[in-house]
Amino acid sequence: TPLVIAIDGPSGSGKSSVSRRVAARLGLAYLDTGAMYRAATWWCLESGVPLVDGPAVAAAVAAMPLDMGVDPAHPTVSVGGVDLAEAIRRTEISAAVSSVATNLAVRAALGRLQRAAIDAEAEPGSFSGGRGVVAEGRDITTVVAPDATVRVLLTADEHSRLSRRARDVHGSDSASAMRATRDQVVRRDADDSTVVQFRVAADGVTTVDSSALDLEQTVQAVLDIVER
Ligand code: CDP
Repeated sequence: TPLVIAIDGPSGSGKSSVSRRVAARLGLAYLDTGAMYRAATWWCLESGVPLVDGPAVAAAVAAMPLDMGVDPAHPTVSVGGVDLAEAIRRTEISAAVSSVATNLAVRAALGRLQRAAIDAEAEPGSFSGGRGVVAEGRDITTVVAPDATVRVLLTADEHSRLSRRARDVHGSDSASAMRATRDQVVRRDADDSTVVQFRVAADGVTTVDSSALDLEQTVQAVLDIVER
């Protein structure tokens, strides 16, 4: 039977790196749902839709020609054929994404697309050959795939999350780089928390605290949960 692994966690918990490696190791597809919210934000800004206009944002997202590539060795996200790998990591997208992700009509639309992508990976003709998928985000264990085979909440203390994100974005975890990342990590998680609960593991979800683990140790901790 196809394996569906759902991994949620806050910003800087390492969930993208860990999820990609777990998927590659197990020969599964990899779905980055955060990239979908980021692409939706890019699409609204690109189309000149004011992010404060909830119904207009929802309508724009419903019409977005989104394409997700689920190869963990080379995940892609594009809209209307435009590759967004770099654009969606820009500061202006990171700063605006929570306002799109807290729109409940947007969550319903993207949640449906995510569910369809997960279900498609259970089919023989899929990228994974029907072996399954690792899907990561904020509400995969609770809303999108509460029926996943394995559900993990990846956490880390605030200092570790700020330091990781500072190294990703600024190439350093100096005090000033960590200060510059604070808005990203702390404010965005606070905003996201108003619509999705990802701070405490839901029933049946296993918590992995990566504060004291390196990437490989965290991957191994998740693989241990999959194997038991
Ligand atoms: O950069 P980081 O790992 O913190 O986040 P991400 O996975 O790229 O997700 C970016 C944003 O998308 C989050 O801050 C949420 O606003 C939103 N998101 C969500 O609401 N639900 C998900 N399942 C995934 C992401």
